[in-house]
Amino acid sequence: MRTEFLKACKGEKTDYTPIWIMRQAGRYLPEYHTVRSKGSFLDLCKNPERAAEVTLQPVDIIGVDAAILFSDILVPLEKMGCPLEFHEKRGPVFPSPIRTQAAVDALRIPDAEGDLGYVMDTIRILRKELVNKVPLIGFSGAPFTLATYLIEGGSSKNYLLTKRMMYENPALYGQLLDKITDCTIAYLKGQVAAGAQALQIFDSWVGVLAPCDFRDFAYPYVKRIIDALKAVTDIPLIYFANHGATLLPQTKHCGADVLGFDWRIGLDDVVRQVGQTVSIQGNLEPLCLFLPEDKLAARVRMVLEEAKGARGHIFNLGHGIVPEADPAKAKLLVKLVHEISREMRG
Ligand code: CP3
Repeated sequence: MRTEFLKACKGEKTDYTPIWIMRQAGRYLPEYHTVRSKGSFLDLCKNPERAAEVTLQPVDIIGVDAAILFSDILVPLEKMGCPLEFHEKRGPVFPSPIRTQAAVDALRIPDAEGDLGYVMDTIRILRKELVNKVPLIGFSGAPFTLATYLIEGGSSKNYLLTKRMMYENPALYGQLLDKITDCTIAYLKGQVAAGAQALQIFDSWVGVLAPCDFRDFAYPYVKRIIDALKAVTDIPLIYFANHGATLLPQTKHCGADVLGFDWRIGLDDVVRQVGQTVSIQGNLEPLCLFLPEDKLAARVRMVLEEAKGARGHIFNLGHGIVPEADPAKAKLLVKLVHEISREMRG
């Protein structure tokens, strides 16, 4: 198995900089559409053989250094008792949003194997398939990001209902976040037991919070998850706070092995702030995949240069790859990261 990804997470020396891509299994790959056309997105998540098949696609087709489990951050919420739908245009929808004490009280904490066994089965299949390939990353959403979907009932522009609950009824908000946190801890522990070799916590929407609200309404729950996992496993934990540059003075203390960054901050700035305490992941602007080859190579070199002083660096896009991206360009990106980072090591 290629271990560069795991080594970089722990700050060990590597021959080249490893790369994986957020949303690497997905709609930019024609091979994904072939499998996906057999049913709905949720059907695909719940079918371990097919979910494993699409997880492996980017490993075989574009050559990334880690696989990420094919699933969605929202599937454990369904098992908390919130029916989940994915609509072609609107994306995820929770038809019965969680906005009252009664609704929060009714939420249950799912059992990883009993309720989410299909995810654990996918992980077990993948570990067999990946023995001679690359490590497997499991994941969850972070409590704030998950809560926005439950409270808003789906995706949101301004998070009005979430922030209103935070400010108008902080006790209820706290109970909801505590339950989501308990669910996430059980879910991630289950993934570790099933064989995940690293875990990423996606805080996709946390960048909409003021730093003081992050401190009070989001960070404590992330910290609780990381502390609970650190008590049972040594596998690398990655915390990705999207749009989180202004939160870095806080996130750098969260206890994760790796912090992930979007493209709105330079990694040189990140390194100045975190020093050698953690490894870093990121952060090429995803739409750079539309640059011509020479300009893409220059941007790759720039990101690698900026990350040079880091304890460890895992190359990634600053957020998910878009469905319009050309798989050949994604493959070229992987090749450029490997070649240029080898060359920089002399
Ligand atoms: O990264 C991977 O390749 C693994 C699979 C993965 C998916 N979703 C598959 C998916 C992962 C890690 C996620 C995480 C996820 N899901 C996040 C956090 C990452 C981020 O992008 O910030 C979020 C916020 C979600 C919620 C979600 N799922 C939304 C908002 C949508 C609809 C919008 C969109 O991008 O399509 C989804 C659907 C989804 N999740 C698809 C895929 C491949 C598209 C579904 C399809 O095939 O129709």
